[in-house]
Parts: sequence; structure tokens; C-alpha cells
Amino acid sequence: MGAKTYFVTTYGCQMNEHDSERLAGMLETEGYSQADSPDEAEVVVFNTCCIREKADQRLYGNLGHLKPIKDANPDMKIVVGGCLAQKDKATIQKRAPYVDVVLGTHNLGSLPRLLREAEHGPAFEIVEQTETFPSALPSRRSSPWHGWVSISIGCNNSCTFCIVPAVRGREASRRLGDIVAEVEALVVDGVVEVTLLGQNVNSYGRDLDGTPMFARLLRELDRVEGLERVRFTSPHPKDFRDDTIAAMAESRTVCEHIHLPLQSGSDSVLRRMKRAYNRGRYLEKVHKVREAMPGIAITTDIIVGFPAETDAEFDETLSLVEEVGYDGAFTFQYSPRPMTEAAEFADQIPKEVVQERFDRLVAVQERWSLKRNEAVVGRIEEVLVEGSSKKDASRVTGRTRTNKLVHFSDDTAAAGTFRTVEVTSASPHHLEGALVGGPRRDPRPTLTLPLVSATSGCSSCP
Ligand code: 5AD
Ligand code: SF4
Repeated sequence: MGAKTYFVTTYGCQMNEHDSERLAGMLETEGYSQADSPDEAEVVVFNTCCIREKADQRLYGNLGHLKPIKDANPDMKIVVGGCLAQKDKATIQKRAPYVDVVLGTHNLGSLPRLLREAEHGPAFEIVEQTETFPSALPSRRSSPWHGWVSISIGCNNSCTFCIVPAVRGREASRRLGDIVAEVEALVVDGVVEVTLLGQNVNSYGRDLDGTPMFARLLRELDRVEGLERVRFTSPHPKDFRDDTIAAMAESRTVCEHIHLPLQSGSDSVLRRMKRAYNRGRYLEKVHKVREAMPGIAITTDIIVGFPAETDAEFDETLSLVEEVGYDGAFTFQYSPRPMTEAAEFADQIPKEVVQERFDRLVAVQERWSLKRNEAVVGRIEEVLVEGSSKKDASRVTGRTRTNKLVHFSDDTAAAGTFRTVEVTSASPHHLEGALVGGPRRDPRPTLTLPLVSATSGCSSCP
């Protein structure tokens, strides 16, 4: 095993991917370099998620795999950080006593100190208040052309299924000037696309000025020269206001894609979930954003099998999915979480009923994903190249402004450059295309390959 190497495994949402960049950045500042696999690293970090039970199980499986490797290499240090650590310090200690460092969501910046303390025995530290805004810590960005930018942390909502407020704490917004300065610095560094991160980006600024400032932030970022694309995740439908829709439509940089988590199409389920909107209000927002930005892609999150969900209530979800015709959806089977109200609700739905509803929902959504993708066949799209295609290394992959994956052939395409591509065919989850033109800008110097190795895809809340 080489000295001073690390490996970070990330579970869960984009917020966690961003936190992992910070964990890696701190380790590199301490002189560590990235290993090819966890088995070879001196410091192995698991940045965890607890939003659904499966994420818990996966962590303990991975820790079990490392146990014999650590037994053979006593210098190896195992670190568990993030949401599950925040919730479960004692359980981790009990189930995996060979873990060296546990740190939560609020004290990411303590990693170097805790690693030093771990030389003398386990160093477990969870705090309830955020010490440093994640973006203020050093970063080891996984992409030279894309940057995650954290605009707020925590969540003040109380959706009855969701564990996030318990592990990420109260909402705190970052100062607008600091965000703009970070984006400007990223652009100087070669970034052309940023994704703004927050549990509820629409309420950004409410804790600073008493009024949401997300629309203002979008307009300010639109003035950053050299910035080409702005994405954000996620807006809560209840706070998705007209001023934000107007700012999106009028900004050059804001991409034509919105992820608007639905959770359920039934008014009674939405009430039990405490989502603070109903079907009608949700559809109103969808119509407004489509009117302001024709052709915008809309994606969502849906939970199936919420406690006491009836067949009729589930049918309301199906009919809403048909009515909106989403470009894509993350579909989840309800998973009771500790520290949430819904875990105590009567009438948890039997597994086989949930599975049957889930399969029906997926089938409807797959049909819509294909239909929406087929609608762009024949169109000319701007594509930001991400790298070579995973399935066929002779082709490259990129994303349209509507966040659709496109595979096409281009011997000269460098990651982080733009191409003009004609869409030639569609599948539910990607498009095939043919090069028409580009590059639109010179490739910037490329950093080394992505650092964050294992990520389980999942949208961020709400
Ligand atoms: N069970 C299933 N899905 C959940 N989500 C959040 N909490 C739960 C839960 N307890 C889903 C929501 C959210 C997404 C990030 O995860 O759909 O938008
Ligand atoms: Fe907050 Fe999103 Fe969880 Fe609701 S689903 S409590 S908005 S993080």
C-alpha cells in the first residue's frame, strides 16, 4: 500500500458529491493523493446518505468488505462522514468498531484534525451547528468544466417522510456576494457550467434578508462573463415563484431544464406528506414555466407507497404523470426513516402492493421519457461534451441544455467544449446524434480524471 493516498466513495445526492470534493480537497492540502481503489488507499472515506434504508445497508456492506483489508494493513484509516454518520454515530461504532473517524454534516472541515487524533484511537465527532460553509473549504473538483456551488444548507420544511432536516439542520443561506465571487473564480479556472445546490433553492436568502432572493441570484450570475450554463437543484414547488420563472426565462445562462419534485399527485397524500401545495397548484407552476420557456425539460421525484396510500390516490399520481408528461423521473418506494413523522403513521403499505404500483409508474414514465426524447429527433442542439461514451469508447457523450444525454462521433471533441449536434434517434434515457459543428470555444487545460468513484444516482431534495 502506497503512503499518503486516499479514496472517497460517495452515496446519495449532488450535495454529497460536492461535500466529497471538499473532503478530497482537504486531504490533498494535507499531502494525500488519490488512490485507484479503496483497497489500496491509506485513508478511505465513505461520504454517506440516509435518505432511504438501502443507503444504510450499502455502507455496512462496504465496511465489511474493507475489514479484512484493514486487518492486513493496520495503517489504513477508515472515515465515515455525511448524513448517516450524523444520525448514527453510535450504531457505526457498534456495527463497525474498526472505523477510525466519524464526522457529520456540520463539521466536514474537521477531517484533517480528526485524522491526526485517530493516530491515538477512534476519533468520533458529531456537532449540531455548521462550522464552515462547505464551499469555503478547499476543493478537489471532479470536473474541470463543471462546478457545484452550494448556495444554502439545511431545510426548514417538515415533509413527513424526510430525514434531511434532522441530519442537515436549519436552513442557512450563503451571502450572495460570496456565491458570485466563487462562480467568477470557477470561470477563471475553466468552468463553463455551474449547478447551484440547496435543499430548497427557491427559499434562498429568506434567512438573510427576510425575502427569497433566488431570482436575484440568477440574474446576478447571468452577468458573469464566460459562464455558459447555470443549473440548480432543487426548487420546492411551493416556493417556485413567478419572479424565479421570469429570471429563468430572461437569463442567457439558465438552462431549459427544471427538476420539480412532485412526490404524489394526490391532494390527500400531499397533505399527509405536509408538502404545502396541492395538485392544482403544482400543475399551475408547470404550465407557467412551460409558457415562459417553451421546450423546457421537466423532471421530478415521486414516492410510491406512502403510508395509507390507496389505489385511488396512486391513480391520481399516474394521471398527473400523464398530464405533465415528464422528460424523466426518479421514482422511489417509500422507506420509513427514523426521526420522521410518517414512520409512525398507521397503514404502512405491504411491499408487494408498493412494488406493483411502482412497476406501473415506471412503465408510464418510460413511455413518456421516450416520447419526450423522440420529440427532439431532427433538432439541432448545443451539446457540452463530458467525455467518451461509457458503452462505446469510440463515441463521445455530452448534454444538451435540457440535460439530455447525447452520444455522437467526433474524433476531436474534448471534454468541456461545446459541439453542435443533430439528434438522429432517441431512447428513453439518451439520444444519438451526428456532429454538425463546433467547437464553439477552445478546450481549456484539463485536470486529471474524476476523483469521486462510486456514486449512487439520486436527485437532491426536495
Ligand atoms: N422514502 C422514499 N423516498 C424518499 N425521498 C425522501 N425521503 C424518502 C423516503 N423516506 C425521496 C424524495 C426526495 C428524493 C431526494 O428522495 O422523492 O425528493
Ligand atoms: Fe426539506 Fe426536501 Fe426533505 Fe422536504 S423533502 S423536508 S423540502 S429536504
